[in-house]
Amino acid sequence: MQPIQLTRGVPADESYPLELVRECASSVMQDPKLSLEAMRYGTGYGFMPLRELLASQHGLSADQVLIGNGSLSFVDLLGLTLEKGATVLVESPTYDRTITLLKRHGVNIIPVPLEPDGVNFDAFKAAVLEHKPTLAYLIADFQNPSGATMSLAKRQAVLELAEQHNFMILEDAPYRPLRYRGSSIPSLFDLNPSRTMQMSSYTKQISPGVRVGTLIGDKTWLAKLAKAANDTYISGAFLGQATVFEFLRRGHLEPQLERLRALYAPRLERMASALRHNGLTDFLEPDGGFFLSVNLPQGSSIADLLTRASGAGLALTDGRGFFVNPEAGNTFLRLPFCALGFEEIDEGMKRLAGLLG
Ligand SMILES: Cc1ncc(COP(=O)(O)O)c(C=O)c1O
Repeated sequence: MQPIQLTRGVPADESYPLELVRECASSVMQDPKLSLEAMRYGTGYGFMPLRELLASQHGLSADQVLIGNGSLSFVDLLGLTLEKGATVLVESPTYDRTITLLKRHGVNIIPVPLEPDGVNFDAFKAAVLEHKPTLAYLIADFQNPSGATMSLAKRQAVLELAEQHNFMILEDAPYRPLRYRGSSIPSLFDLNPSRTMQMSSYTKQISPGVRVGTLIGDKTWLAKLAKAANDTYISGAFLGQATVFEFLRRGHLEPQLERLRALYAPRLERMASALRHNGLTDFLEPDGGFFLSVNLPQGSSIADLLTRASGAGLALTDGRGFFVNPEAGNTFLRLPFCALGFEEIDEGMKRLAGLLG
């Protein structure tokens, strides 16, 4: 039986704009100035033409734009620059690789329960008062892993607390441009750019292989991260950054995002209706992004489900990895929908329901 992959949140192979990337990379290499800049070492801040372009789009200065080798690298750099024992609040559940990296750097990670409209605000406030965080790491739009989107009221309340208690927000926003329905909510960065650093990435917008992530915000914080980057890997993968620069300069990004929304929106709808069709109703259906999440019945064991799923031709992710206290993830199942065709979605949800029924 062909296993159906419901593990990683990867883009669909058919989403990659191969021809456009080929043209952009080739054009960079034919440009005497850009090609040399792409070949040389640079600073830890990243490829200057891309930084300048993004700065002008956001109304920022170039020293408020950092380009990384993907966006996860910023969490690592942050871990290198935070003071020993610094406290970071995270949503619970949150992106598993962020937990891994923060743990590796000895950060004191405080999980705050997540609701369908963002963190539980009372719990967030109590955590701020008790733990005096340096930073809160929040994925406000179409969260990985749950699919939740933070309401405007919670965004404002969280930022107000950040002002009162002098901590920064690290907003991780790789899914923000991938809204399939409803209207956009201002980002945390839009609402308060001096309290927020916003991470994003071209992984989900162009491809993971270009390996280009962005961080915008406070120049003092960014200077520390750029130094950590320079100390760690000297400068980033400029050929990828230059290709992304050319892709943006030629105006390819918005049409590419339109294509992605048209490709992924029906897959989300299909997965939600396949779940319902198979009698599974306790799930969080997002308005965008890559993931939908299912609440397994109380008392379920995700470890047991994983074992039975592999026997039934279903590859699932262990929900416990998304929780700072792993046992809290025993009843949590993340389902990525973007890289699956309709038939795989239908068959996958049927197999899942068979295991849970
Ligand atoms: C919330 C979130 N942040 C960061 C990343 C890292 O992406 P990359 O390093 O490829 O930019 C991911 C990838 O899935 C993600 O879901």
